[in-house]
Amino acid sequence: MSILAVIFDLDGVLVHTDQYHYQAWKRMADEEGIVFEESAGDRLRGVSRMESLEVILEKSGRTYTNVEKEALAERKNGYYRELLEQLTPADAAPGSRELLAACTEQGIKVAIGSSSRNTPVILERLGLTHLFEAVADGNEIVNSKPDPEVFLLAAKKLAIDPKYCIVVEDAEAGLIAAKRAGMKTAATGTAIKSARADHHLHRLEELTAVIWG
Ligand code: BG6
Ligand code: MG
Repeated sequence: MSILAVIFDLDGVLVHTDQYHYQAWKRMADEEGIVFEESAGDRLRGVSRMESLEVILEKSGRTYTNVEKEALAERKNGYYRELLEQLTPADAAPGSRELLAACTEQGIKVAIGSSSRNTPVILERLGLTHLFEAVADGNEIVNSKPDPEVFLLAAKKLAIDPKYCIVVEDAEAGLIAAKRAGMKTAATGTAIKSARADHHLHRLEELTAVIWG
């Protein structure tokens, strides 16, 4: 299989921040008296902050103005940023540093493709920033996953044709985005059983067998 680049989703793949997203939304929803069930959590994976808010407001029973929505999203992000302060390099997913090093040593380019506007902060806290040749994140895109924009941007930054890229994802929205970008897919975490995945990773290190056989 000819793979020249790996594009990693961040939240839920390289770090457990998916749990922090859930906790921060839950705190905001509880304060607002909005029912927020754990089962809704998977629908927040991969989609932008404002789209996540729309999912949560479905259960609110009232309409919110755009100004109110901005305030709610801002409040949630404040709670989320508080949780991010706990992150240390030890929170990078098991095997992630070794996998990144193996790719780089073998000439496989590595990038981030994340919908999160907090990507730079998270990578810094994990001490991973310098390991990526390119970062494409929520600060640079108009359409978040399942739109392919963020992955196409990552491939462009790496100067690698999308067909030689493989995306590692924990979200259904991300797998759809990767397929639309014409890339191969490897699913992990909650998406591991997805039919959209070309490969299924119980541990990140298993990607080496996908790339090198
Ligand atoms: C994605 C998460 O990585 O980033 C989503 O999977 C989240 O749950 C999105 O909504 C946007 O994150 P942020 O950090 O910009 O609010
Ligand atoms: Mg994710």
